Amino acid sequence: MQYAKILGTGSYLPANRVSNDDLAEKVDTSDEWITTRTGIKFRHIAADHEKTSDLAAAAARNALADAGLAAGELDLIIVATSTPDMIFPSTATIVQQKLGIGSSGCPAFDVQAVCAGFMYAVTTADAYIRSGMAKNVLVVGAETFSRILDWSDRATCVLFGDGAGAVVLGASDTPGIIHGKLKADGNYLDLLKTPGQIANGKISGTPFLTMDGPGVFKLAVKMLAKVADEVITEAGFTSDQIDWIVPHQANKRIIESTAKHLGLGMEKVVLTVQEHGNTSAASIPLALDSGIRSGRIQRGQRLLLEGIGGGFAWGAVLLEY
Ligand code: UT7
Repeated sequence: MQYAKILGTGSYLPANRVSNDDLAEKVDTSDEWITTRTGIKFRHIAADHEKTSDLAAAAARNALADAGLAAGELDLIIVATSTPDMIFPSTATIVQQKLGIGSSGCPAFDVQAVCAGFMYAVTTADAYIRSGMAKNVLVVGAETFSRILDWSDRATCVLFGDGAGAVVLGASDTPGIIHGKLKADGNYLDLLKTPGQIANGKISGTPFLTMDGPGVFKLAVKMLAKVADEVITEAGFTSDQIDWIVPHQANKRIIESTAKHLGLGMEKVVLTVQEHGNTSAASIPLALDSGIRSGRIQRGQRLLLEGIGGGFAWGAVLLEY
């Protein structure tokens, strides 16, 4: 039995760090509103020249260095993103080229599951490793959501940020990813979407993110609690055996609700929403890297990763670090 084990993690945040007060100078909002409703204090915004693939490649280089692996040793690259550099080719192939391993021929593809993207990508990588189809897999969550925000819409523009997080997974005889579960329900597609499309040389429909915040909030709390319960139970564990929750960082109140449901205190949660805002597919690997680099997450500890977003698509993964 081959497990997918985390060999290394890395992240990258654009230099431009924007505070709530900075935003309050541009839109009708306040630090007090953003902090009490979401927990967010800062977000990073990519420079004009920085593309999603640049953020992803920087995070990937850090993860490879942490894993002690050369890029040429990768068998597969998966990038989770909803803000790709272009319609095609995939951001993963651009990352492969930026890592200087285009000629290696290793497969590379994107996964698009919005804020659940990293859950989908990691679970896919796990399946490749378990089946023996790959040994070393790079999984990146990378986003430049600042480019799909309507900066005059205070209900959405204060919530999101840019960034990238990466993990290198390697085949191992010891755990590893223990269990993962993915879910989707397309009936909720209207609650959170960026509907613009390019057709016949024109953009039709709004090219900006739209969200029914309270609608998403209510369902997120319910669905995350259920999928977390299922993953833990199906793996044969109980929630008191979880050392860390590493959640999608959209809203502190949603995170608190999931932790409370599992009977775990906030001291068992890696919280980065205050520093990063909601970075969609990048938020879980950014939080994971932050937890590991700060020394809080230790080898041998059991982690629950969970996230939900547009689609709806959601999921959770239980692993031993
Ligand atoms: O990552 C994908 C998953 N996404 C999420 O998990 C997001 C889930 N939803 C949320 O996190 C919350 O619903 C929000 C943070 C988006 C909104 O919080 P809320 O407590 O649900 O607020 P609301 O949307 O019900 O708005 C309350 C009030 C409204 O004013 P009125 O109608 O009560 O007068 C809004 O116009 O707050 C107003 N408002 C703002 N005020 C100041 C909305 N945005 C802002 C703002 N600054 N930025």
